[in-house]
Amino acid sequence: MAAFEKIVTSEGHLIDSGLMRQIFDVIISDGGEFQILNFEIGKTNQEPSKANLKIMAGDIKSMNKILLKLSTLGCVIDEESEVSLKPAPADGVVPPDFYSSTNHETFVRLNGGWSAVENLRMDCAVVVEGSKASVKKFRDLKKGEQIVVGLGGIKVVPEFAERDRADFAFMTGEISTERKVRLVVDRVAEIIGDKCKRVAVVSGPVLVHTGGSNGLIKLIDNGYVQLLLGGNAIAVHDIEAALYGTSLGIDLSTGKPVEMGHRNHLRAINEVRRAGSIANLIKEGTLKSGIMYAVVKKGLPFSLAGSLRDDGPLPETITDMNEAQDDHFRLLKNIDIVIMLSSMLHSIAVGNMIPSRVLTICVDINPAVITKLKDRGSLQTIGVVTDVGLFIHMLAEKLTGS
Ligand SMILES: NC(=O)c1ccc[n+]([C@@H]2O[C@H](COP(=O)([O-])OP(=O)(O)OC[C@H]3O[C@@H](n4cnc5c(N)ncnc54)[C@H](O)[C@@H]3O)[C@@H](O)[C@H]2O)c1
Repeated sequence: MAAFEKIVTSEGHLIDSGLMRQIFDVIISDGGEFQILNFEIGKTNQEPSKANLKIMAGDIKSMNKILLKLSTLGCVIDEESEVSLKPAPADGVVPPDFYSSTNHETFVRLNGGWSAVENLRMDCAVVVEGSKASVKKFRDLKKGEQIVVGLGGIKVVPEFAERDRADFAFMTGEISTERKVRLVVDRVAEIIGDKCKRVAVVSGPVLVHTGGSNGLIKLIDNGYVQLLLGGNAIAVHDIEAALYGTSLGIDLSTGKPVEMGHRNHLRAINEVRRAGSIANLIKEGTLKSGIMYAVVKKGLPFSLAGSLRDDGPLPETITDMNEAQDDHFRLLKNIDIVIMLSSMLHSIAVGNMIPSRVLTICVDINPAVITKLKDRGSLQTIGVVTDVGLFIHMLAEKLTGS
C-alpha cells in the first residue's frame, strides 16, 4: 500500500479538452498511482464531466509534486476543506509554505463557499480579507495579512484547456510558414474585426526598423487598438522616424545609413524633452505623424517602461520599475487580447501580468521568445515566428483593406 494518499476532484470538459490525459500523465510520470473513484461523463457538449481520483505516492515529496501540478490542471485537493491561511510574518514577506498564484481563474473555499480570487496574475501571494481573496505582489504585503498557504481549498480553472479555445488549438505551436501566418492573421482579424474586444499592443522598436509603423498606425486610426505598451525605444525610434525619416540612423525609405544619422534618435529624445512631453511636441506642431502621434491623437492610454538600455529617457518613460509594473497592470485590467510585437523583454513582462483568459498573440522572428513565454506559464499564447513588419502589414491590410 502507498504511504501517502489524497483524494482530488476534477471538473470540466475533461475528455475533449485532453485534461484527463494530462492529469494521468502527471501522476504516472512523477511516480504516483491513481484510482478512479467516480467518473460522471457530461452527456452533452455543454455538460461538464466530474471525476474523483485517489492519488497514491510512496513519499511526501512525490505526493506534493504531483498535487502541485494537478492543482494547476484544475484538480481540487480536499474539495470540502477550507483554504488554509497564515499571517504574513513581516511587511513584504510570506510564510514559507505560501501558495503561489497562477494566471488562471482561481477560487478559494471560504465559509463553505467558493470565492473568486481578484487581481489575477501569476507568481504572487493570495491574500484573504473577510470574504474577499485577491492577488498581491510581495512588495505590497503588510505584516499580519492572511496569506493562502498549501494547496487545499483552492480551485484553478485552466483556461487554456477549455474547449472554446479549440478554434485556435491548431495554432498553439510555433508558426512560421507563410500560409499559417496568413491563417493567424485571418483569425485575429476576425476576432478583433467587430471591435467588441479590447486590444492592447505591446511593441519593441523593431516594428519601426522593419517598416511596420504604418500598419500599426492604420490599426490605431481605425479603432482596433485600445492600449499601447512598450519601452523607451518604441517611442524614441517612432519619433525619430517621424521627425527625421530615419530609424536608428537608417533612412527608412532607402534602407541606407544617413550621415550623422546615429544622432537622430538622440535629437528626437532632445526635442521631446525640450517640449516637456510627446503631447506638447504634437501641440506645438513639431510632431505630425507616427505611432505615438496616432496614439495621442486618438486619446489612447499608453505606458512606457524604462530599462537599463535607455537613452534619454523620454519624459513619459517610467524609470521606477515597480511603478512601471503597476502602471502596466492597471492599464491591462480590462483588456481581452494582447498582441505582442518583437520585444522579448516587454512581451514576457506583460505575459506575467495577464490572466490566461486574455488571448495572447506573440510575433517574433525568434521562436525562443514564444517558448519562454509558454515556459513561464502563458500557455494561451499563439506564437507567430515571422517578420513583425510583414505580420502587421498583413493584419492592417486584412482589417482596413489598405
Ligand atoms: N535608445 C534607447 O533608448 C533604446 C534602444 C533600444 C532598446 N531600448 C530598450 O531596451 C529594452 C529592450 O529592447 P527590445 O524590446 O527591443 O529588445 P529585446 O531583445 O527584448 O526584443 C527584441 C526582439 O525583437 C525580435 N526581432 C528582431 N528582428 C525581428 C523581426 N524582423 N521581426 C520580428 N521580431 C524581430 C528579436 O528576436 C527579439 O526577441 C526596451 O525596454 C527598449 O525600450 C532602448
